[in-house]
Amino acid sequence: MKVDGTIYRTVSINGNSVCLINQNTLLSGFEIYESKNHIETCEAIKNMTVRGAGAIGAAAGYAMAQAFVEAPSKKFLDYVEKAKQEIESTRPTARDLFDATEKVFRTGLKSRDNSHRKNLAKFEAGYIAKQNEMACYSIGIIGNGLIANNSRILTHCNAGWLAFVDYGTALSPVYIAKRRSKKLHVYVSETRPRNQGASLTSWELRNEGIPFDIIVDSASAYLFSKGKIDMVIVGADRIAVNGDTANKIGTLEKAILANEFKIPFFVAAPTSTIDRKCKTGQYIVIEERSQDEVLYQKGLTRHGKLEEILVAAPGSTAINPAFDITPAKYITGIITEKGIIRPCENGINKIL
Ligand code: MRU
Repeated sequence: MKVDGTIYRTVSINGNSVCLINQNTLLSGFEIYESKNHIETCEAIKNMTVRGAGAIGAAAGYAMAQAFVEAPSKKFLDYVEKAKQEIESTRPTARDLFDATEKVFRTGLKSRDNSHRKNLAKFEAGYIAKQNEMACYSIGIIGNGLIANNSRILTHCNAGWLAFVDYGTALSPVYIAKRRSKKLHVYVSETRPRNQGASLTSWELRNEGIPFDIIVDSASAYLFSKGKIDMVIVGADRIAVNGDTANKIGTLEKAILANEFKIPFFVAAPTSTIDRKCKTGQYIVIEERSQDEVLYQKGLTRHGKLEEILVAAPGSTAINPAFDITPAKYITGIITEKGIIRPCENGINKIL
């Protein structure tokens, strides 16, 4: 994707440094953060410099490769095993993080020679990032087939090209539809507490020249009731084999609303987001994040400075579950790189 005419990748590697578009500071300007070792990459995942299922999957794969490069000859295995645990403890919900870490770890250990191991790990991490990008492009092509001209689409959180290595998931069909000259309007729900919709999805849509309006999270019922939404497309962090889907907190209420108002509700995700070991949504671990994300809001002052302010009565406490689970029964279809899965028709089993 291009930013001001230059092509960027959300996650890439330069030597042994992982380059990430800094999503925490995007409001004040576009910058690339470079993490020099796997510990710094883990920190960037935890503090959400990089976020979004596919992007943290790619970053985790590269972090694993960094650990292979760093590992001392003696205690090589101990070092990479410990690093794997560190990477896997950064964020619990997004499936792609565990998928990538496991794949790079296994591929790296296919050789007995340490220098060969380092190359194998780096190669596998790069391959995962590339696969991620290609899957998202296919999701765009397949999902575009569902979008009629003049559609008004509601999305939640950010599942665009900041959340994956390129193209994104929920927004990829929107981007392809735009390139095929379809007229569209996107409603972006702001996605409190971290505002991924208001700050990231809006930033992407502006870049792509797609008309949109931000709505407060609680405005979607009103828009549905006024017949202003034709379809919903959201991303996913982990999908159980029965189709139950974990995505950003607030997704479930949009799914229930879409069902009530008989509006199609689509999830877009690559098949790497499907957890074959997870039978239903009840087994998906939901990340609990700091209450400070609810109590404080970060934004730009009128003078262009990023600042955090308290938006709750002093002394308040908050809870901050980062994801919810949408039962398969509310999902019209899951748009994957292999086709559209109908979860209620045992569709996931047919595709696996
Ligand atoms: O906490 P985040 O910002 O990493 O969560 C990301 C999401 O939940 C998004 O909604 C997205 O759909 C999944 S990543 C494409």
